[in-house]
Amino acid sequence: MSNIVFLNGHFLPQDQAFVPVMDRGFIFGDGVYEVIPVYGGRLFRLGEHLQRLQNSLAGIRLANPMSDAEWTEILQRLVRENGAGEQSVYLQVTRGHAPRDHAFPQQAEPTVFLSSSPLKPVAAELLQNGVTAITLEDIRWKYCHIKAIALLPNILLRQQAIDAGAQEAILVRDGVVTEEAASNVFMVNGGVISTPPKGPFLLPGITRDLILELATANGLTQQESEFGPEALAGADEIWLSSSTKELLPVTQLDGNKVGDGRPGPVWQQMQTLYQDYKQALIAGEVE
Ligand code: PDD
Repeated sequence: MSNIVFLNGHFLPQDQAFVPVMDRGFIFGDGVYEVIPVYGGRLFRLGEHLQRLQNSLAGIRLANPMSDAEWTEILQRLVRENGAGEQSVYLQVTRGHAPRDHAFPQQAEPTVFLSSSPLKPVAAELLQNGVTAITLEDIRWKYCHIKAIALLPNILLRQQAIDAGAQEAILVRDGVVTEEAASNVFMVNGGVISTPPKGPFLLPGITRDLILELATANGLTQQESEFGPEALAGADEIWLSSSTKELLPVTQLDGNKVGDGRPGPVWQQMQTLYQDYKQALIAGEVE
């Protein structure tokens, strides 16, 4: 598959795309991003992703360099150039390049970069057996609702989980579960699906919102409510959600089984609803 990217107004092969070394994304991590899945050539929940991008840009006081119509045109062309089908589109806007100074530059054009990689189906093994997670202190900053490219804490936390022999890091701030290092967290207790409410300490996941929507539309009980690590440890089921992971069951937490140690029945139900939704998207029946 050709690997075509978009950089500052141009579509070009990835190996020909370069940004100046003084780009503030490179020097400071001064930028925001989105990851948008594509199914059957269709961008998943595009309106929601563009709205979150706008919110992130506003959160770092950077003017949106593009209208939604312009973003849509670029995104659709990128998807076409990369052969439609299933893709994971990465979109990044930085504050551009300027001499190194923490304060905003007087004049700098934002750097706009988009790329696409094949969206691999979630491994069957993970769906069959679930994933293992550990709880860790959420060491991130207080603007986690901004999808900032500066991901060093997330990277360190994920690696800490891996070094401990687990796959995922579920984060706890001041006794409250926030999210996983790169996904949102759900738990199920007595058939009730709970996820932490939106706020500055977690990213408002697009997948998360869809799961809540699907739960409501299909008569499952859901609530947005805070819970701590003890409640999580006692949950019947734990799930993680993101654009690339979709909906993963966590079957082991801090070395203990979650429920009976197998992906649970409510996860199975939601997984079916989620996959049906994707099929409807591919068929053009939903956005
Ligand atoms: N991560 N929380 C964090 C910290 C995330 O990084 C992500 C997504 C999510 C889930 O958001 P969504 O459902 O919109 O993908 C929650 C992306 C996929 C990434 O960084 O690659």
